[in-house]
Amino acid sequence: MATYLVTGASRGIGLELTKQLLELPASQARKVFAVTRSSPSGPLQAIIQESPDRAISILASVDNTESVQKAAHEIETQLNTGGLDVLINNAGITRFSPRGSIAMPPEQLADVFNVNVIGAQRMISGFLPLLEKGEQKKVVSMYVLSYQLASGSRFGAVLTLDNRSPSMGSITLCKSYRCAPSQAYKVSKAALHMLNAQYAMEHADAGFTFLCLSGGMSSQRWECSFSSLTLWCLVAQDGSGYSMRTLRLALGLQSWSALS
Ligand SMILES: NC(=O)c1ccc[n+]([C@@H]2O[C@H](COP(=O)([O-])OP(=O)(O)OC[C@H]3O[C@@H](n4cnc5c(N)ncnc54)[C@H](OP(=O)(O)O)[C@@H]3O)[C@@H](O)[C@H]2O)c1
Repeated sequence: MATYLVTGASRGIGLELTKQLLELPASQARKVFAVTRSSPSGPLQAIIQESPDRAISILASVDNTESVQKAAHEIETQLNTGGLDVLINNAGITRFSPRGSIAMPPEQLADVFNVNVIGAQRMISGFLPLLEKGEQKKVVSMYVLSYQLASGSRFGAVLTLDNRSPSMGSITLCKSYRCAPSQAYKVSKAALHMLNAQYAMEHADAGFTFLCLSGGMSSQRWECSFSSLTLWCLVAQDGSGYSMRTLRLALGLQSWSALS
């Protein structure tokens, strides 16, 4: 009977996660709060209409503290005395600086940080009281593209446990991703990883799990994100390794204690 919140639910991975959560039986996903910064997109509206008793549309911009606090208050009212089980920090933006870091406008870095890092901080700190009341106490943050996974024969999600995870946010492996001129994005996702590590240390004793998920490559278009997530599911059916476990964990289908 878990309750979920997904940010950036209007399109891409957030939309697909919302859809897949609502495909679970109510005994596994009782309520899904689909957070968008403007009116829900047509595809999201269609998904919500199919499960009007379980899908709830919430407006919030993760780059605005007041907006996140208002959403937390609204969701607290909706949950009555209950808690939130799983927070999925999916909303994120990318910016490019093809002429190198020296040409990256500071404002670009600030904008990306404000959504990808401070946005996650707003969400986690704003919803922590409700997560404390939840049974599962899970926070999932969508991390970065992983070329190694994307270029392999199968896509997948990877559990980010250390800084050597094969992803764009890795400092150890940053030379592998030099060709991608998304400096602000890479810096922000490395910081998002560290933010999650701080929370994980501080709240482990209270039973919290903080998880960064690296996706396989999908374009910014919905169709490709969809196929990426579908492939994650296919990997799940193969029964192979972390790729299976992380998606199942993110969707609340598998016990997180398996990781500890
Ligand atoms: N695509 C990939 O290959 C890939 C791989 C690994 C990880 N990721 C990560 O996965 C997440 C989703 O990726 P995606 O490809 O699905 O991205 P996307 O298609 O660009 O969607 C991003 C979502 O974030 C929302 N958003 C952006 N700024 C926001 C703000 N200030 N407040 C609230 N919502 C905001 C967008 O809302 P609007 O619809 O209103 O613009 C949109 O719904 C991101 O964190 C990304 O870094 C992506």
